[in-house]
Amino acid sequence: KYEKIWLWSGAVCLTIFLLIVGVSAFAMGNQPPSHMETIDPEKAAVTAPFDKPGLNKIGDKEYEAVMLAQAFTYTPSKMKVPLGSTVHFKVTSTDVVHGFEIPSTNVNMMITPGYVSEITHTFDKPGKYLILCNEYCGAGHQLMAVTLEVT
Ligand code: CUA
Repeated sequence: KYEKIWLWSGAVCLTIFLLIVGVSAFAMGNQPPSHMETIDPEKAAVTAPFDKPGLNKIGDKEYEAVMLAQAFTYTPSKMKVPLGSTVHFKVTSTDVVHGFEIPSTNVNMMITPGYVSEITHTFDKPGKYLILCNEYCGAGHQLMAVTLEVT
């Protein structure tokens, strides 16, 4: 009869564990890091916040860059932030897979239609940073680059 007690305590522990996982996953919105925000690529350009792509000031030296990648450019094509700014990039594609790389930083991500890719970087050095596409996306791929100026 001791086995029964152990079996029951095991079952109770398992139930409690599953409850904790379930509550944290669904009620608190905890998701594994692979979770990504999705978006309908056909409607991406008219869906907020991508209907108004651009640089938004969200705090002291803190910006959100909402960007659209489409063959063969990014919108907006020019941005300017003060030195020391932290920029939260939020990017999606309206057509095919594009890249999003800022050489000499650790910003490097893939922009997949249907998904919102996010990355944050603090720009501590002044200069003109290139944002470029590093995924072959068609005939104009090598032209796909815009600038972010840090002054
Ligand atoms: Cu976009 Cu290559």
